Amino acid sequence: MTDSIAEIVKRACAAETNAWGYGIWSHHITKVVEHCRRLAPVFKADPEVVHLAALLHDYAPIKDSTLYAEHHVHSPLEAEKVLKQFGYPAETIEAVKHAIAAHRGSVKVERLSPEAECLATADAIAHFESIPSLLYLVYVTRKMDIDEGAAWVRAKLERSWAKLNPQMQELAKEQYASALKTLGTAPKTNGKPAIVCLCGSTRFGEAFQQANLRETLAGRIVLSTGSNSKSDTELLATGELTEEAKANLDGLHRHKIDLADEVLILNVGGYIGKSTRSEIEYAELKGKAIRYLEPIPATKA
Ligand SMILES: [Fe+2]
Ligand SMILES: [Fe+2]
Repeated sequence: MTDSIAEIVKRACAAETNAWGYGIWSHHITKVVEHCRRLAPVFKADPEVVHLAALLHDYAPIKDSTLYAEHHVHSPLEAEKVLKQFGYPAETIEAVKHAIAAHRGSVKVERLSPEAECLATADAIAHFESIPSLLYLVYVTRKMDIDEGAAWVRAKLERSWAKLNPQMQELAKEQYASALKTLGTAPKTNGKPAIVCLCGSTRFGEAFQQANLRETLAGRIVLSTGSNSKSDTELLATGELTEEAKANLDGLHRHKIDLADEVLILNVGGYIGKSTRSEIEYAELKGKAIRYLEPIPATKA
């Protein structure tokens, strides 16, 4: 019977009305099923219940994307209809419905069964491995721009991470770290916000201010230059900065890079000066994630 239900969900994924595209079947649902099968013994969960819940947990928004925001409410109801058609016992249906209702990281529904824990964990791990389908969602379906889409996906992964218990975080940490690396940022450590260091020519004071605000609003700790109002060249010209002090500032900025999880290069108009170039090389050497304000030709990355 589970094969027939898998066929129903697969057909819904292939339908034109599915806003996520067929990839949600091949990149997400099948992976959640696979992880549930693997994790059921770990959680001492009923393998049939978690298999059914994995197949049907996102069924409502696959059929109608407007139900996405409340799909922890709609998918259990859709699952109930399907399972009743196939004559499943009431207790199986109730167990599947609860697991689906509690599977989301963004909605606080208490997980009261090992099947609910198992599905939530499998769903989270699948998200870490399903970057292509999440990118399809933000860039194709929701038409977000690059930064907005990456921030949305990152926030989703962070919620998925937060819903894992410590034991499962240990099992999933490599997938989580590599997923975040793909998005151009380092993972939060011990629940603390990521630290970003801004790098670029001090002539772009306004870009520093804007990036500082944007990154802070995105929940990151920002390390920046000492002055946003005057460039180093202006400070040197007025005598407020000596050549020796300038060299010290460059050294100080490298210490900031050391503290950061990632650097954001403010390459306004594509400009990357000599000292910024050396900061990029330093960040690369230290294995920091590197983001750029403006797209750069691949050969220069
Ligand atoms: Fe979901
Ligand atoms: Fe899901």
